[in-house]
Amino acid sequence: MEAKKIRSICCIGAGYVGGPTMAVIAQKCPHINVHVVDINPQRIADWNSDNLDELPIYEPGLSEVVKDARGRNLFFSTDISKGIAEAEMIFISVNTPTKTYGVGKGMAADLKYVELCARQIANEATEDKIVVEKSTLPVRTAESIKTILEANTTGVNFEVLSNPEFLAEGTAVQDLHNPDRVLIGGDQDESGLAAIESLTEVYANWVPREQIVQTRLWSSELSKLTANAFLAQRISSINSVSALCEKTGADVDEIARAIGSDSRIGPKFLKASVGFGGSCFQKDILNLVYLCHHFGLPEVADYWEQVVKINDYQKKRFAKQIIDSLFNTVSGKKIAMLGWAFKKDTNDTRESAAIYVAGELIQDLAEVHVYDPKVTEQQMINDLVYAGFGTEEEVSKLLFVYGNAYDATNNAHAVSIITEWDEFKELDWKKIYNQMFKPAFLFDGRNILDRKKINEIGFDLRSIGKGL
Ligand code: NAD
Ligand code: UGA
Repeated sequence: MEAKKIRSICCIGAGYVGGPTMAVIAQKCPHINVHVVDINPQRIADWNSDNLDELPIYEPGLSEVVKDARGRNLFFSTDISKGIAEAEMIFISVNTPTKTYGVGKGMAADLKYVELCARQIANEATEDKIVVEKSTLPVRTAESIKTILEANTTGVNFEVLSNPEFLAEGTAVQDLHNPDRVLIGGDQDESGLAAIESLTEVYANWVPREQIVQTRLWSSELSKLTANAFLAQRISSINSVSALCEKTGADVDEIARAIGSDSRIGPKFLKASVGFGGSCFQKDILNLVYLCHHFGLPEVADYWEQVVKINDYQKKRFAKQIIDSLFNTVSGKKIAMLGWAFKKDTNDTRESAAIYVAGELIQDLAEVHVYDPKVTEQQMINDLVYAGFGTEEEVSKLLFVYGNAYDATNNAHAVSIITEWDEFKELDWKKIYNQMFKPAFLFDGRNILDRKKINEIGFDLRSIGKGL
């Protein structure tokens, strides 16, 4: 069976993955029409904005890619039916958050948005389609998608592929232009292999073929959860060691360098921090834990759950250190927080450690004064309310947001660095010291500052994984 040459793609979901991924496919494949659709009209309006600074997602290099392709072969709209009808290949790139209700609450992935997409594809399709799982999904989800597709239509053939996305936010465009690998899983029969080849040909427009890994469906689905679990595990491992470093006088960055130069371990993902955030690590590990329980593997479930537990411990430990250092009371004190996004170069705040650190401080009645270069005040309030730290009215009384680091730190009792934005390294720390209450405490949750210089200024500096 010949692999079909793809000329039209639809992507359902114009979020952090759908938007950038499709923009790059359109940029690299001018012969393919790419139609990105979403139920959220505001999101689509923002993707279509004339002002490229107003794209709904901040990613270095993204506006240039959108500028190249938008209106040529890249289109954003809310017309999902048209998008499905016109496409030979349909990507499902909708959100798959942790379930907040019913069976699997707090653990399993909520697949209701994925299921809705499958039902809509089944209803709208009048010709054969290749359906691609781009969202991160529990292993064997393709089976449910196929069942829905096959139950709803007559005479139309659907092939389901798994093509998980490995981009990291903040470096999405770079990761999409030069991926370590592209993973495509599908059925190993004739039509499944042909569909795998069709998608391979799309990526082969810019990714070397030897970097396109083809597997069975279930291996592809499970590889995505496994990759995130391994990456997060490294962070929890180094963060657990950071606690021991603080007790013993060892330096966690020196340890990371020493162990990371062993080629079997490697240097990446060994940066101790206030805790990992982001929409996926925690969600995907909890999903893995849920699956292990579901398949009767409690020991495996417990093993992976510990990665999330250490991350919770790290966030709490950081907040507690601030409170303990400030003589066990922060009530009425002004604590400045630099950074709110879950990492630098993104406006995404989902599961950011900032939310939990600020929340703990607010519960102890501290005033939290924040500056982040890309996150709005309303987003911070929403995050705190959503995480259960109070009503909008309550959190607004103790949260103050500024347009620069100097205003946020003025008259502060302590400053904490939560996100590793480059500009925080370049601040005039002497000026900040001079305008703070003394002793001036500085909690470097990312170890980005030069300890010697900061200590010389006079700060009482506490860094992750470094004794006094
Ligand atoms: P997101 O919330 O930013 O975007 C999802 C979009 O889907 C939203 O705009 C939403 O309105 C839309 N949507 C939901 N249901 C819809 C429907 N029925 N029809 C049309 N549109 C619908 O989510 P995201 O961060 O892009 O993540 C999407 C998936 O990709 C998740 O499974 C996630 O785990 C995975 N993933 C995310 C990243 C990342 O860096 N964010 C990286 C790799 C994989
Ligand atoms: C992560 C993975 O890196 C991507 O491969 C994957 O596609 C994505 O999840 C996903 O599935 O959503 P992302 O969460 O965007 O990407 O960003 P990362 O760079 O992985 O950072 C995650 C968190 O870990 C951030 O809070 C970051 O600050 C923290 N981190 C990262 C550390 O604390 N230390 C490190 O050494 C590295």
